[in-house]
Amino acid sequence: MLDIASNRPELPPEIARRRTFAIISHPDAGKTTLTEKFLLFGGAIQMAGQVRAKGEARRTRSDFMQMEKDRGISVSASAMSFDFKQFRFNLVDTPGHSDFSEDTYRTLTAVDAAVMVIDGAKGVESQTRKLFEVCRLRDLPILTFCNKMDRESRDTFDIIDEIQENLAIDVTPASWPIGVGRDFMGCYDLLNDRLELMDRADRNKVAESIEIKGLDDPLLTKHIPADMLATLREEVEMARALLPTLDPQAVLEGHMTPIWFGSAINSFGVKELMDGIATYGPEPQPQAASPRAVCPEETKVCGFVFKVQANMDPKHRDRVAFVRLASGHFTRGMKLTHVRTKKTMAISNPVLFLAADRELAEEAWAGDIIGIPNHGQLRIGDTLTEGELLYATGIPSFAPELLQGVRAGDPLKAKHLEKALMQFAEEGAAKVFKPSFGSGFIVGVVGALQFEVLASRIELEYGLPVRFDQSQFTSARWVKGERQAVEKFVDSNKQHIAYDHDGDIVYLTRLQWDIDRVERDYPDIKLTATKEMM
Ligand code: G4P
Repeated sequence: MLDIASNRPELPPEIARRRTFAIISHPDAGKTTLTEKFLLFGGAIQMAGQVRAKGEARRTRSDFMQMEKDRGISVSASAMSFDFKQFRFNLVDTPGHSDFSEDTYRTLTAVDAAVMVIDGAKGVESQTRKLFEVCRLRDLPILTFCNKMDRESRDTFDIIDEIQENLAIDVTPASWPIGVGRDFMGCYDLLNDRLELMDRADRNKVAESIEIKGLDDPLLTKHIPADMLATLREEVEMARALLPTLDPQAVLEGHMTPIWFGSAINSFGVKELMDGIATYGPEPQPQAASPRAVCPEETKVCGFVFKVQANMDPKHRDRVAFVRLASGHFTRGMKLTHVRTKKTMAISNPVLFLAADRELAEEAWAGDIIGIPNHGQLRIGDTLTEGELLYATGIPSFAPELLQGVRAGDPLKAKHLEKALMQFAEEGAAKVFKPSFGSGFIVGVVGALQFEVLASRIELEYGLPVRFDQSQFTSARWVKGERQAVEKFVDSNKQHIAYDHDGDIVYLTRLQWDIDRVERDYPDIKLTATKEMM
């Protein structure tokens, strides 16, 4: 039995056993395959192949759109809960495509740790680096899984060096690979002095661990050919001399990452990684909020919305707000205060996401992710509490990097378009700006593919064909400052001013020069590229 070791004995056991995490990786590194094996070993699915369809769908654009249409699959995959040993794992999915990075960033505010999957042949790739940087902003603990070791892979020391240098984090090997490529046999488990051999015959089976007494145990010669054993001994000796040893505190603080080597498709190394998440991934952590932080052990319930998904079921215009519970023990039917509007909401149909199904959540604890169907009241960044006025902080809204004007194909449908755009803005799928000059809207996104997804969703969900046009603006910044200074600024810059869906003032820019000019001419005005959603 793994110990539910907690640095925080004040946590009730139900909370202490929760591990809420995300997987970050570059497309194709094996995130879907690994997720599937997690679910398999967590008993949430019976056979491999059930979530595969998703990975395949991701690979091409048109299939991706199809997947978006098929909200059932993509949504139940947004957060998945399953048990592993005495732990409850909540795996929160991050969209794989880089165009959805904003959504991904917000998702990472809802987890306590991240598993970084890298391809053993490719090392640290661009998307991994970007996501890692986001985790670093929050000092999230990161556990690394080096996948595809059954294929030709890079030298183990090279991989470790690359992570250390590229990501500026200490790396400590939790396991050490034996052989490479076709000769890859398995790993030596450095944490438990065990030999783990891969079963190439059955991809869903995990061979029994072999207990040994250190690297000099004669039993090793029975399992490993002499030349490979000599290499293993030499490499492990070097690794122990050169690389830092595992320091659980440094892992928790995000300064060190343990690395496991394996092959997700062969189910190899996955259980050791899951044990690692249970042991070194933290229990639910305090949530930053204003005017005070929220601790998971508090008896009163507090949760915040980090994602909203509209029109999940095309037959009903419902939306689901994904809420991370920051504290307390939630039970179905509870009445919670919606802090932004100060109204009470009875949460009667909360859902939990279990692999491919969703089911009514009778109860949930701090650390869990629940879905709350609603008609648009719940927005990203909103907080639900048992009465106290707390505002979750640190859920960013990013300045869009691409702007386009948008028009309804049929001009008579302009009002409908406005409604659709506002809904997507609230969902966080795009930024929508109403310029202070002229009619029409400007839509801002972080990645170009979002325009296509948006156009297809507006057509599918609202029956409105739309056209995007080139905009003279290229970016937007939120305007901050004392009221008088802001008023003066707005008056003299009307051509650049617009309002976001919350009515907040933004400054539309064409060139970096515009921003420099404001900084020079208006020292009382601050232009920001992110807006915390409160
Ligand atoms: P992603 O979600 O990170 O994008 O990756 P995904 O799991 O879809 O895996 C990408 C490809 O890598 C898939 O191959 C998958 O089978 C393969 N893969 C995953 N883990 C391993 C591993 O441990 N070893 C090897 N050799 N391959 C692995 P594909 O050909 O694109 O799809 P498929 O035909 O296998 O389904």
